Amino acid sequence: MRVLIVPASRHGSTAEIGRVIARSIRDEGIDVDVSQPEHIFDLKPYVAYVVGSALYLGTWLDSALEFVDEHAPALRRQPTWLFSSGPLGAARPEEPIHPELIEHLLATTGARDHRLFDGRLDIERLSRTERFVARWVGAEDGDYRDWDEIDQWSRDIARAIVALE
Ligand SMILES: Cc1cc2nc3c(=O)[nH]c(=O)nc-3n(C[C@H](O)[C@H](O)[C@H](O)COP(=O)(O)O)c2cc1C
Repeated sequence: MRVLIVPASRHGSTAEIGRVIARSIRDEGIDVDVSQPEHIFDLKPYVAYVVGSALYLGTWLDSALEFVDEHAPALRRQPTWLFSSGPLGAARPEEPIHPELIEHLLATTGARDHRLFDGRLDIERLSRTERFVARWVGAEDGDYRDWDEIDQWSRDIARAIVALE
């Protein structure tokens, strides 16, 4: 029984969330692979999928959107969970992710759940344009990720997968 975790990340913090999800699911006795969306070609070895992306201007990264569209039939066949990571504490956007995008993702993948996690901002890592946007929306450097919440969600997924057998 093997699960695939697919985190799309621009500056590393969502990739790290992917690795923590993997660790929590492994702790529950399930084999896990973690891979960036552009590196995955074969979904057959897996009984379930967890797909997520960092949020930029209300949407997922292109690599994650392309992955979902390309592999929609496989994602619909097996249990799938989705997550997004983005909001940054007090500078939380009113609409961190476009609601139509969540609808599209849920409809395309048949996912059981979509969860929104807080993210991390490290101004030093940003491009000039990204810095401009970050300052414009009043975002401040910080790591707002809630590891307990992420761990809890991952363990619920693991239990749901075990219950499938
Ligand atoms: C230019 C820019 C735009 C962003 N837009 C959003 C957004 O629309 N919604 C949101 O929740 N977070 C937004 N964020 C916050 C990022 O999603 C957050 O920093 C995330 O943790 C980055 O993940 P990564 O390190 O995996 O790329 C934005 C950040 C930057 C720098």
